[in-house]
Amino acid sequence: MLRTHTCGELRLDHINQEVTLAGWVQRVRNKGGLIWVDLRDRYGLTQLIFEEESSEKELLEKAAILGREFVVQATGMVVERTSKNDKIPTGSIEIKVTALEVLNAAKVPPFIIEDETDGGDELRMKYRYLDLRRNVVREKLQLRHKMMQETRKYMDAQNFIEVETPVLIKSTPEGARDFVVPSRTNPGEFYALPQSPQTFKQLLMVSGFDRYFQIVKCFRDEDLRADRQPEFTQIDCEMAFVDQEDILSTFEGLTKHLFSTVKGVELEEVQRMTFADAMRLYGNDKPDLRFDMKFVELNPIAKGKGFGIFDDAELVVGICAKGAAEYTRKQLDALTDWVKRPQIGAKGMVYAKYNADGTIKSTVDKFYTAGDLRAWAEAFNAEPGDLMLILSGEANKVRKQLSELRLKMGEDLGLRDRNVFKPLWVMDFPLLEWDEETNRFHAMHHPFTSPKKVDIPLLDVNPGAVRANAYDLVINGVEIGGGSIRIHDRATQQLMFKHLGFSDEEAQKQFGFLMEAFEYGAPPHGGIAFGFDRLCAIFGGSDSIRDYIAFPKNNSGRDVMIDSPSSIADEQLTELSIQLAVKK
Ligand code: AMO
Repeated sequence: MLRTHTCGELRLDHINQEVTLAGWVQRVRNKGGLIWVDLRDRYGLTQLIFEEESSEKELLEKAAILGREFVVQATGMVVERTSKNDKIPTGSIEIKVTALEVLNAAKVPPFIIEDETDGGDELRMKYRYLDLRRNVVREKLQLRHKMMQETRKYMDAQNFIEVETPVLIKSTPEGARDFVVPSRTNPGEFYALPQSPQTFKQLLMVSGFDRYFQIVKCFRDEDLRADRQPEFTQIDCEMAFVDQEDILSTFEGLTKHLFSTVKGVELEEVQRMTFADAMRLYGNDKPDLRFDMKFVELNPIAKGKGFGIFDDAELVVGICAKGAAEYTRKQLDALTDWVKRPQIGAKGMVYAKYNADGTIKSTVDKFYTAGDLRAWAEAFNAEPGDLMLILSGEANKVRKQLSELRLKMGEDLGLRDRNVFKPLWVMDFPLLEWDEETNRFHAMHHPFTSPKKVDIPLLDVNPGAVRANAYDLVINGVEIGGGSIRIHDRATQQLMFKHLGFSDEEAQKQFGFLMEAFEYGAPPHGGIAFGFDRLCAIFGGSDSIRDYIAFPKNNSGRDVMIDSPSSIADEQLTELSIQLAVKK
């Protein structure tokens, strides 16, 4: 070993011991005859001291040329500091150095490698290996490590078997585009990288594995956002001989185990809500339940009073912001402008202030009597001091707009506390979703999801109304996981493909292997997958999953450190039988 101790462990107990440390130079302070060096490793920071009286001249000279991020080994005596630093655990001691070895010199780093850095995003990504030296960044990956270990512990204790499924596969239809890999030995043919191990885990159920899990990389070629990466990690699971309740309670157990062991938070029972209620009450299939502010529909009391905009609207719906009646005219105008931005798309906003003196003042007083406004306040359960915000228009659109406004109000009023966790099961999702672009139904979750038995007769008459045995786990407004009870017989699976617009031949070509497997004794089964990066980000209190991935891609899907994607040599293209349509 090149060291006897780490840079994080020496205390007053170690005084008068000779120790050897190794690490990176974080800072050098040179006062002529006296040099202090902060030495850093993964475990902490220790101060080294070089003094003219006690050190040989040569040693002092060596220390004087140390630069930031030099890798050094230092041997010396642990001594008590005269001026202690109570901000770091090793702040009571320092090392009076007697021997110094420069293990490797370093160029001046492109940004400061401390918790507070001057490096911009792009620069830190280009030098991610330096960014990862920073405590605040490393700690995020340590959190990820801990969560991974605790996940494995829990799953193993529950009798799940971890099985690795292949990465070079054929397309799985999860709704995004596939990343494809050309096959050299099969000219003109391609593998696809898995969007998830969905079909394999179902096949493992047919094989009798009964309880499978895998912490697995998935690949989706989709537009990137703060909570989406082209390659991301799932905690993927499948169980046989279970119903929906078994799956929910097993994964509620995992969620509670992780919160308890990793964060020391004891969760209450996870709430449940149907998809239909989530849309009606929050305009969103992943409601943030850290605050209430439910939607209140006002059609019967807001329409028919001569206010044309409400009269013409399919839906008049609002939220009540507690204690926000004191918003100034300027703040309310800004809020109105905010909902009118193209990203939100509302035409306007009506508000009514329930003043502290009991009067109610609205922007549409012309059309509504004091009694009318009181009826609104009653509908909202509003009290003096509250602010009612109302939007109107086409039902689906206005719910979406109001959902954004609700989240903004929650944020502005400080109701989205990162240390509060409100998990929720959203259940009974629709089986199918109409896609305007392709003019046909798509599976809302995926085509292997089973319809609710009572709704099967609706498949022919009103496919959009069929509910699925599908569920999502939502925490604080983030979709953490999703799953379903699967179809496990050929006839139903074939029927499903038919409703999704597949011809028999297409279904057979793409999924014949799965349907055939269903003919060899497939047990009833179901499962779920958690987005592991998202779970880490929620635990760490961050909106971005990038911080929890060691080497993430940027928003254009590029790794700027290794400069990928990149072109490949002509010989490689030839070997792969690929002719480019665009010039390199
Ligand atoms: P689904 O597509 O809902 O289900 O994915 C499961 C969870 O994975 C996370 N996730 C992502 N995280 C980061 N970046 C992405 N691009 C990304 N896409 C998805 C989300 C999501 O809830 N095979 C099914 C699961 C099943 O039915 O068992 C599946 O993949 O947190």
